[in-house]
Amino acid sequence: MSQPIKTAFTITPKADRISAAEREELLKAPGFGRVFSEHMAVVTYTEGKGWHTPEILPRQPLQLDPAASVLHYAQEIFEGMKAYRSPTGEPLLFRPDANARRFRRSAERMAMAQVPEELFLDAVKQLVKIDADWIPAPEVGTLYIRPFMIATEVALGVKPSAEYKFIVIACAAGDYFSKDAGPVTVWVEENTVRASRGGTGEAKCGGNYAASLTAQQEAKENGCHQVLFLDASERKWIEEMGGMNIVAALDDGSLLTPPLKGTILHGITRDSLLTLARSQGLTVREEPYAIDQLYADIASGRLRELFACGTAAVVTPIGTLKTSKGEHVISKETGAVTASLRQALCDMQFGRTHDTQGWVHTVG
Ligand code: PLP
Ligand code: COI
Repeated sequence: MSQPIKTAFTITPKADRISAAEREELLKAPGFGRVFSEHMAVVTYTEGKGWHTPEILPRQPLQLDPAASVLHYAQEIFEGMKAYRSPTGEPLLFRPDANARRFRRSAERMAMAQVPEELFLDAVKQLVKIDADWIPAPEVGTLYIRPFMIATEVALGVKPSAEYKFIVIACAAGDYFSKDAGPVTVWVEENTVRASRGGTGEAKCGGNYAASLTAQQEAKENGCHQVLFLDASERKWIEEMGGMNIVAALDDGSLLTPPLKGTILHGITRDSLLTLARSQGLTVREEPYAIDQLYADIASGRLRELFACGTAAVVTPIGTLKTSKGEHVISKETGAVTASLRQALCDMQFGRTHDTQGWVHTVG
């Protein structure tokens, strides 16, 4: 569907970059998704021509025709990844090749043009290089990178677009959940579902997130930070959360997490943690986990810890599960397994420990 790109990025630096003092002020407590870096990567796809005109531009609004198909039929996919500042100040990426591959799979599911992996990685690296000053200090956070692709053909017929824009933007990211919150409270969604078998649950497409928003709203109204979705056919099995995967630590020292069967995202953090856990000798089971069994395991003490994991959330302990019928309290503290996995992952991501897996990349 696409041809490899030969052209190098044309770089147009922003003329009036903000002062170092202003940037440092913004980077002290950036929160998540509001403090954006100053550039963006843009590459255009035209059927018959392939990917062309790769550019690094000052970050700016997009010009879109009101009939652009993304605005009507949601042909859109995205990725989430981060740049970390190493102890020597160097920008590091964590498994960016895995994001590039997942982006290709998402594109395939949404009948979109495929972004060649080298082009994906080049766009991300060029943006991180030009905006490296926007990576916060490690004690504050990271630079969250958001590659995405939209269908831009001006056509109201329902069909795969013949034109796309692949764009990468970035924002400074502190903690996704407020630091003072401690373990988060999660709403178990018993009515709406996020994904069904044969649907788009495995793809990282905007529509999945739009479908999760009423549940997220309900969660908020009930004092919860996030939502846990159940399977679409039986409402029996836990799947994943609105924006992260879920893992349980049991009293026999094992980890238990739902399997990847087409309805949940293949989380790169999930995969990294399971790999690290296995290398530490922990037993990892990727098996269906019924919500009623999970409640029973909380009550009996078999379930010791429960955590959410994802690029934005990193590893976040879950303290309480809540439903319309009541609460299931796991713990008000972060458990030892959760803390040690988070530490091992972050040490690797921030370049503080030897990378035994070949996961950490420099931007060149
Ligand atoms: N599940 C959903 C629905 C997500 O949005 C995310 C975040 O990207 C994840 C899981 C975790 O994936 P990853 O660890 O690759 O960020
Ligand atoms: C990410 O972790 O990258 C996501 O896309 C999830 C979202 C909650 C920000």
